[in-house]
Amino acid sequence: MTYAIANRVVLITGATSGIGMATAKALQARGADVVLTGRRQEVLDALVLELGGDRTLAMRVDVTDREALDAVVTAAAERFGGVDVVIANAGIAVDPPTTVAAVDEREFERVIEVDLLGVWRTVRAALPQIIARRGHVVLTASVAAFGNGGGNAAYAASKAGVEQLGLALRAELAPHGATAGVLYPGWVDTPLIKVAFGNAVVRELIRHTEPRPLRTPITPERVAAATVRGIERRSARIIVPGRWIPFSVLRGIVNPLIDRAIERDPKTKRLILELEEQTTARGNHAVHDPDSLTPGSSREPTSATHVAHSSSTEAGHHACPEHLAQHVRSVPLALRFPRSAPRRRGMTTAHWWRANGTDTRRCRRRRPVRHPTRPPPRRRCDRDHITTPSRSSP
Ligand SMILES: NC(=O)c1ccc[n+]([C@@H]2O[C@H](COP(=O)([O-])OP(=O)(O)OC[C@H]3O[C@@H](n4cnc5c(N)ncnc54)[C@H](OP(=O)(O)O)[C@@H]3O)[C@@H](O)[C@H]2O)c1
Repeated sequence: MTYAIANRVVLITGATSGIGMATAKALQARGADVVLTGRRQEVLDALVLELGGDRTLAMRVDVTDREALDAVVTAAAERFGGVDVVIANAGIAVDPPTTVAAVDEREFERVIEVDLLGVWRTVRAALPQIIARRGHVVLTASVAAFGNGGGNAAYAASKAGVEQLGLALRAELAPHGATAGVLYPGWVDTPLIKVAFGNAVVRELIRHTEPRPLRTPITPERVAAATVRGIERRSARIIVPGRWIPFSVLRGIVNPLIDRAIERDPKTKRLILELEEQTTARGNHAVHDPDSLTPGSSREPTSATHVAHSSSTEAGHHACPEHLAQHVRSVPLALRFPRSAPRRRGMTTAHWWRANGTDTRRCRRRRPVRHPTRPPPRRRCDRDHITTPSRSSP
């Protein structure tokens, strides 16, 4: 049965921008009372002016502040009588993305604090209301929850955590007659996306590892429409755009293949090292400061420059330019499955793997592998129809 939106009270975190703002507007247009939260008071004030004050409550709330979240739930209950739906949406990302080894520790933990713990605190503060009113919780994760988060680990780890939180919550709310669902947006055209797309190396990494349809951003309004539909249906999962659904469904099969390809791909390795070098250039020497090595330590220096140099030397020495150029660069990484494409082009699977990042010194073009069980030739029988020797033989 449809869960009608009209006259419900919906609390949204991160409503001052992007997906949160678009969702607030869409819900209000459907007749809901909306409780808008965010950190920028001036944007909240402008939103109240735009949406009208009688069905809107706006409060400045930081999702890392549990008391502020309790206060907004209390204020919403006083003003509208309770909270029916909560959308735990506020989120940030490390700017610019970088590796686990190079990221500033405070930045990494800040992302977990907002993206995972902020969602947990929001949900926890609103839960008594949701249970009492048999309402619905939307937890904003991301397709990053089920993809490889290399270069953006804090964000991906938080979103994977949000997904698990949402799945557990749905099971636990069932006896109370309430529900929870996880929202998985793909790339969405909001200020947050500029963090990833604003950096040339990250742009190249995304371009290299994701096929074009997946990395094409959609509008926040499209995510908002899908979220409204998801609330009406009390959906367990809202994946938008839908082209990410096969990846979610097949993740157990597809992800190991993609992870393996990423791990071995020379260009991905080079881009990751470039990201690390950029972080070093910005002044974060968390792992790259040679002075941090203990004198006499047997460890090799791990500076980005050192690793980048040795890696590019290796790549130059081992790479097979003919095949790399011809077969590898033009194909998006996620589409390079080892057992089909190489064979069509006359390469064995072993050859393909060598050409994709490991030792290719013995690389020689080999003949295509012939299928050992080729069917016997067909011949015509007397009765003028096609048959095989085995069938026609007595
Ligand atoms: N854009 C994408 O491609 C994409 C893809 C998948 C998932 N998502 C997720 O969707 C959600 C919304 O992102 P968006 O794309 O709409 O980004 P956005 O336009 O940058 O909006 C982020 C919102 O989060 C709020 N926020 C950030 N830190 C906060 C904090 N500590 N306390 C309270 N509010 C805080 C911001 O409020 P103030 O500006 O007022 O601080 C802002 O309203 C995030 O959880 C994000 O991870 C986005």
